[in-house]
Amino acid sequence: PRSAVHAPGGDVSLAGVSLAELAAHHGTPVYVLDETEVRSRARAWRAALPDAEVVYAAKAFVCRAVVDWMAEEGLGLDVCSAGELELAATRGFPPERLVLHGNAKSPRDLGTALRLGVGRIVIDADSEIARIAAQVPPRTAQKVLVRVLPGIEAGAHPKVRTGAEGQKFGLSIANGDAEDAVVRVLGQPGLDLAGLHCHLGSQIASAEPYGEAVRRLVAFLARIRDRHGVTLSELDLGGGFAAAYLPGDPAPPPVAYGRRITDELTRSCAEFGFPLPRLTVEPGRSIMASAGVALYRVLSVKRTGGQVFVAVDGGMSDNPRPALYGARYTVRMVGRTTTAPMRATTVVGRHCEAGDVLAQDVELPEDVRPGDILAVPASGAYQVSMASGYNMTGRPPVVAVSGGRARLLLRRETFEDQRGRDVGV
Ligand code: LLP
Repeated sequence: PRSAVHAPGGDVSLAGVSLAELAAHHGTPVYVLDETEVRSRARAWRAALPDAEVVYAAKAFVCRAVVDWMAEEGLGLDVCSAGELELAATRGFPPERLVLHGNAKSPRDLGTALRLGVGRIVIDADSEIARIAAQVPPRTAQKVLVRVLPGIEAGAHPKVRTGAEGQKFGLSIANGDAEDAVVRVLGQPGLDLAGLHCHLGSQIASAEPYGEAVRRLVAFLARIRDRHGVTLSELDLGGGFAAAYLPGDPAPPPVAYGRRITDELTRSCAEFGFPLPRLTVEPGRSIMASAGVALYRVLSVKRTGGQVFVAVDGGMSDNPRPALYGARYTVRMVGRTTTAPMRATTVVGRHCEAGDVLAQDVELPEDVRPGDILAVPASGAYQVSMASGYNMTGRPPVVAVSGGRARLLLRRETFEDQRGRDVGV
């Protein structure tokens, strides 16, 4: 499906649906999600690690339909707020397949998780241990994982590197915090310590850091066994598997990550005489990014300072990734054929700051003009889910396509929606 959007030609379609028609029917900006691509990526992850739990990281993008797709494909859901928990519950998502994350879980988050009976709560701070234990109903035990910091630098940008010291997540193995937390959890009758969790970071385009994480975590599991006499049985390696944004971007297939992880697990467990733990992975972007396309309409074209600026009707409010992480995208015109030569163009948004640049130096036809539709592939992850209310432009709709049909998943945010929560004077 992504290749269809990269292909030349005017009337580009996704899953048999014309993008230009979608833009005309739903207005722009609009996000289009290829359901078959999402499901096949989810299946590829299950096939890559057949003995593991695959837990989709809902933060990449979630709505009711996505919850259903993941339930049907046999995945779990990584959630990090009461809102995401409630959404899963409205679809009857199996609570034992929910994993609650967060470095600062609110009373509402924890209360909702315990009420629904989530499968795992991931402990991210020492101060959480007693807080969670105090809320667990008497004579029951909540399964928990301790999130450890393995001390590994990985991830495409400093803002999404979570495996090394010097950032807010996890409990350090190196300074003893992780071991202290394990001991504290073991001492809480309301908590059942199932194993360890780590999340290295995001957009990690090599399987190597995962092999290293497995090695360090199995060594740590063996140390816990030797010093404290408990054999923990679960290892959750988090997510972070890369997606391709630009045509030659490295993005190993799930099976490449899966092979590295299982090989290292077998090797490390043999080395330490440790029984193979139950494995979990939490891909978000790797399932969702390639399935989405963002469509915008050109509103203005300006030549200034030696650059061509094409301004569209969306921008940093629906895709904050370029501004936040320097993320790069390709852009192509759809819905109209032209023989005009291509030239380097900067696609900018409509928001009130100069940093609202969607794509720098992309090739677009010289005759691109107001009214044209621009498509941005690989827009399925962390765009709609991070969309903001900036400038009151209204968050964009999301349309699912499959088998030649389109259906609206999320409608556009209207002024009525915005006015509805403005309750003061
Ligand atoms: N598990 C945990 C505990 C996480 O914190 C995350 C992402 C994932 C799994 C899924 O990571 P993924 O496979 O999607 O890389 N907004 C940033 C990405 C932030 C990722 C946050 N945590 C971006 O747009 O690049």
